[in-house]
Amino acid sequence: MSVPSQAQMLLPLLEVMATAGEHIRPGQCYELIADKLGVSAEERTKRVPNGASTVNAFERTVRWVQQRAKLLGLIERVKDGWSVTPEGKQRLTPAPARQPRVAFVTDRGMAIWGDAFDVPTILEAGSVRAIISSPPYPILRKKSYGGITDEKTYVDWLTRLIEGWLPTLKPDGSIVLNLGDAWRPGTPTLSTYIERLVIALEDRLGLHLCQRLAWENPSKLPAPAQWVNIERCRVKPSLEPVLWFSPSTRPYANNRSVLQPYSESMRKRIADGGEQLSVERPSGYALAQGAFAQDNGGAIPGNLIRAANTESNSRYIVDCKRHGLPVHPARFPAALPEFFVRLLSEVGDLIVDFFGGSGKTAEVAEALDRRWILVELYREFIEGAKLRFPNAT
Ligand SMILES: C[S@@+](CC[C@H](N)C(=O)[O-])C[C@H]1O[C@@H](n2cnc3c(N)ncnc32)[C@H](O)[C@@H]1O
Repeated sequence: MSVPSQAQMLLPLLEVMATAGEHIRPGQCYELIADKLGVSAEERTKRVPNGASTVNAFERTVRWVQQRAKLLGLIERVKDGWSVTPEGKQRLTPAPARQPRVAFVTDRGMAIWGDAFDVPTILEAGSVRAIISSPPYPILRKKSYGGITDEKTYVDWLTRLIEGWLPTLKPDGSIVLNLGDAWRPGTPTLSTYIERLVIALEDRLGLHLCQRLAWENPSKLPAPAQWVNIERCRVKPSLEPVLWFSPSTRPYANNRSVLQPYSESMRKRIADGGEQLSVERPSGYALAQGAFAQDNGGAIPGNLIRAANTESNSRYIVDCKRHGLPVHPARFPAALPEFFVRLLSEVGDLIVDFFGGSGKTAEVAEALDRRWILVELYREFIEGAKLRFPNAT
């Protein structure tokens, strides 16, 4: 798409700032807004004349929108970035502290407007089969003496949060976290917060890392633009880590529930009665004659989940616009929660998403006959999520 107008960018700016965290540096807004609005790489990096030199047109528009939001009293300068003011937050209404409220219910599920810290205390102990969540993005800032402050703060915050979730989980339950890579400010290097988180969850909470998976989003935009498009020293990051943890070394899981259709060649091989001759593979591994003759109903998938996140006119988006609600800026595609709901739970099990956002996990759980609980801090997002459930009350 072309660069949106300033007016079109105002609400998305408040949304990404509120969703991402308390303070955000001006530069961090560029990537988040470009991603949210689907700005093309060309528009993202386009330079236009500015006096004797040139300037990045998209970034200049974002800065103008920030200035406009500041003049309107919606955001304010804080020590090392910007923060949404109470007035700006009125456009996104956080749940009152320690007062989670039921927002809507369906036959199978319940959406709670509340803080992910407060809600576990009101859930039944040992009732949840799987927690499937995509936590907010960590916002990294440079310390004055060169270190990074917020990756450690973020890991502590998420570890304490997950500690609170654990009593709700069945002994053989699972926690799935979809995380995003975070770039260290000003350099083309990555934060190691994900590695720190894995170690913290193992060391402090005794969780086991059951498997590392990744979500490949082929439609992901090239970012950060500075390193990928301008200096051309990094490639497009198209993978997002998805980490599966459990308090048990053998949580409930059944890969027969996520089988994929056989390839054409595999179907032919099965039809032919398996390998025709005993073959030695380049690895030295020998396949016996007749191997792969049995039809097991499909192929066991790998740990890479490919799913584009390109919906631009889904029912959810159309309905949000019709009701004047913000379209959630960081939705994941149905294929992601669907894979884990199928793999890690059975019909009737309870699935929880403590960072419910637009209600994607809940919608998938409902469709797959699981019970579900969605928790979301902002009322406007939960009102948008309700639109996914026409029979909600
Ligand atoms: C990355 S988004 C999740 C999007 C979701 N997976 C989807 O597909 O729509 C994270 C969500 O967590 C919410 N959030 C942030 N802090 C929270 C908290 N303390 N308690 C509950 N929700 C929170 C944000 O408002 C945001 O909607």
